[in-house]
Amino acid sequence: MHRGRIVVCGVAVISFLTFSQANWVRAEEAQKYLYVGNAGCKCHLSKGCFEGDEYKERLHSHTFEERLTTEQDKNNPECLKCHATAYKKKIKDNKPYLEDVQCEACHGPGEKYEEVKKNYKGKGKDAFNELLKKDPMLARKEQFDAGLYTAGINGPYKTIKEQCLECHWEDAKATNKCPKTKPDAVMNFKETFEKDDHRDHDTIDDVIEKMSPADKAKWKDYLEKDELLLSPLKPAAKKAKKK
Ligand code: HEC
Ligand code: HEC
Ligand code: HEC
Repeated sequence: MHRGRIVVCGVAVISFLTFSQANWVRAEEAQKYLYVGNAGCKCHLSKGCFEGDEYKERLHSHTFEERLTTEQDKNNPECLKCHATAYKKKIKDNKPYLEDVQCEACHGPGEKYEEVKKNYKGKGKDAFNELLKKDPMLARKEQFDAGLYTAGINGPYKTIKEQCLECHWEDAKATNKCPKTKPDAVMNFKETFEKDDHRDHDTIDDVIEKMSPADKAKWKDYLEKDELLLSPLKPAAKKAKKK
């Protein structure tokens, strides 16, 4: 009885370690392309674009200046892990990190994605927009194949929550949490997700809704795996227009 319990416990520990290790390795392997910074996400950050507007409202977008107030903090690897993006990864112009929690902190290095959007198959600026209209599912594939990811669909995270837990914590006793927050501060995932949720209604959503089971099977690697992504959109997101 006693012994059994120890064995079970041991297995749990081992599989946990392998799992986090695998996750880490996958995230490392995924770095085929450089991080380019928010300047590469100019379209999304232009006036009237829903996800950009949502982003600017969040402290993610100015947490670096706001929270790392001393030179010491600004140079502290411990703080940069969560209050900056791509620390210790390969970034355009050899920058050591990008300030704030930028788009790429959650959507992956954008070098190739930017290229696809701006000059799809070497055919210039409008080529990708035409593809988006003609075959939105293939357009999604092209973007995801270029290294873009959205937690809960593709990329190294199976669920959105798993991605948030890179920098957030649910247990006040966690050892890898922010040393500057109130001792009892923890993430309430439901509330946190709702606040940060920046999905809006795109052509692709209509396409997916009408897909046959056969097509769903064919495109399964490009469809929502986290149920949360099927939850209703914010009212403001339904009205969103500009892209
Ligand atoms: C594991 C990720 C992580 C690390 C490491 C981290 N932070 Fe944070 N920090 C956060 C998160 C998430 C919050 C918001 C927490 C909340 O309000 O629930 C935060 C909040 C803060 C706040 C606001 C606290 C408050 O309650 O008003 C300050 C200041 C801060 N961080 C500074 C730092 C500094 C300085 C370092 C390095 C010594 C650091 N953080 C390291 C994730 C992190
Ligand atoms: C903290 C992580 C995080 C950051 C930062 C972030 N995103 Fe997202 N993004 C997500 C997650 C998770 C989803 C899927 C569900 C959601 O909206 O939360 C998503 C979904 C999206 C979608 C799909 C929307 C849809 O209609 O299905 C777009 C487009 C997007 N993000 C663009 C951006 C842009 C542009 C930025 C920067 C201005 C950005 N994201 C910053 C995590 C993030
Ligand atoms: C790269 C690290 C990182 C990741 C990944 C991350 N966060 Fe954060 N988040 C932070 C930091 C740092 C803060 C603290 C901001 C502050 O108070 O300055 C924060 C704060 C927040 C806040 C409160 C700030 C506000 O404006 O209301 C929300 C909501 C939030 N995060 C949602 C999410 C969600 C949802 C995810 C997963 C999709 C996520 N975060 C993933 C680093 C991260």
